[in-house]
Amino acid sequence: MTGVAAAVSTGAGAQQADAGNDLLRLENLTHRYRAPRRQKVHAVEDLSLTVAPGEALGLVGESGCGKSTVARCVVGLIRPTAGQVVFEGTDVWKQPAEWRRRTFARRVAIVFQDPTSSLNPRLKVRETLADPLIIHGVGDRAARNARVRELLDMVHLPRDAADKRPEELSGGQRQRVAIARALSLDPSLLVADEPTSALDVSVQNQILNLMAELRDILNLSVILISHNIQAVSWLVDRVAVMYLGRKVEEGPVAEVRDHRRHPYTRALLSASPMITKTSERIILEGTLPNPRHPPSGCPFRTRCWKQEGVCAGEFPPADLPAEGHEVHCYFPEDPNPLQAREA
Ligand SMILES: Nc1ncnc2c1ncn2[C@@H]1O[C@H](COP(=O)(O)OP(=O)(O)OP(=O)(O)O)[C@@H](O)[C@H]1O
Ligand code: SF4
Ligand SMILES: [Mg+2]
Repeated sequence: MTGVAAAVSTGAGAQQADAGNDLLRLENLTHRYRAPRRQKVHAVEDLSLTVAPGEALGLVGESGCGKSTVARCVVGLIRPTAGQVVFEGTDVWKQPAEWRRRTFARRVAIVFQDPTSSLNPRLKVRETLADPLIIHGVGDRAARNARVRELLDMVHLPRDAADKRPEELSGGQRQRVAIARALSLDPSLLVADEPTSALDVSVQNQILNLMAELRDILNLSVILISHNIQAVSWLVDRVAVMYLGRKVEEGPVAEVRDHRRHPYTRALLSASPMITKTSERIILEGTLPNPRHPPSGCPFRTRCWKQEGVCAGEFPPADLPAEGHEVHCYFPEDPNPLQAREA
């Protein structure tokens, strides 16, 4: 570890009082965007989650279900309408803005989908990577240069990449720079919001492999966001499935893959035959309902083949079919018959 990284870690350790077992806890997180004519976009509703130190959580669901909104609330970019983001025992949004800017911003980092728009085209890679260190007053020039070299090594970029601008790099190399910048202050939580979906298929796996490697080396906690459950399932420990702002199922990744109970999860998994080992293919009819006017009760009921009257009442309470496995459905699916649980 360089002097810069050591300085960063030492500073962050002061925040660890009252951490309990969770690094991050979302409690009843809700976010509604303002829309014209006094309407509200119900982007995230009453969502609770935890992430333990060193754990990787996958957050999956189709476009518009609220994944990026959760990410922005977690890293402090948008204030939730209701609910809490608790990091190492501290309620992030009850702290002064200065604490979020100076302390919290060093502990969590985000990688966005498109490295071309997330990197400043005018800055050389060296400047991009040193920028967070300068903003947070970490290290002198020599220590910062050493940290830049260390970060380039960490993401497997050649040292001479430091003198290039984003336009001189490939898409995969740019995303490596974005990941290196996110890691520059040695955070303990990395939120990766569809980090490969803007990249060529050929480099998507390389970036996911890099994230898996960094997670191990740095003991990072990760929230990996994707619309594709197959793409993330090998990298994460647990997966949470979202639909129209709600968490509808969550559990250890193998448990959800082999014993999925929510009809929407079943449909999502049916698009990933490589992990389910079945030929089932469920094509959902229609699109996500308008989040300005979400259906009452279960948000999936307008597309669900099992819906009955009760589904229009309240959002289904949590059912816990196995340890750590949570499902919100009045008529859950039978477990996949090909993946019977061992007695
Ligand atoms: N700034 C905003 N103002 C108003 N509505 C917004 C805003 N940002 C997102 N939304 C809406 O909130 C809902 C959730 O959006 P969000 O970007 O969180 O979804 P997502 O799951 O990340 O989608 P995608 O997979 O397409 O990235 C969507 O209906 C979206 O149109
Ligand atoms: S609660 Fe009803 S509508 Fe919702 S997923 Fe279950 S069966 Fe379908
Ligand atoms: Mg998104």
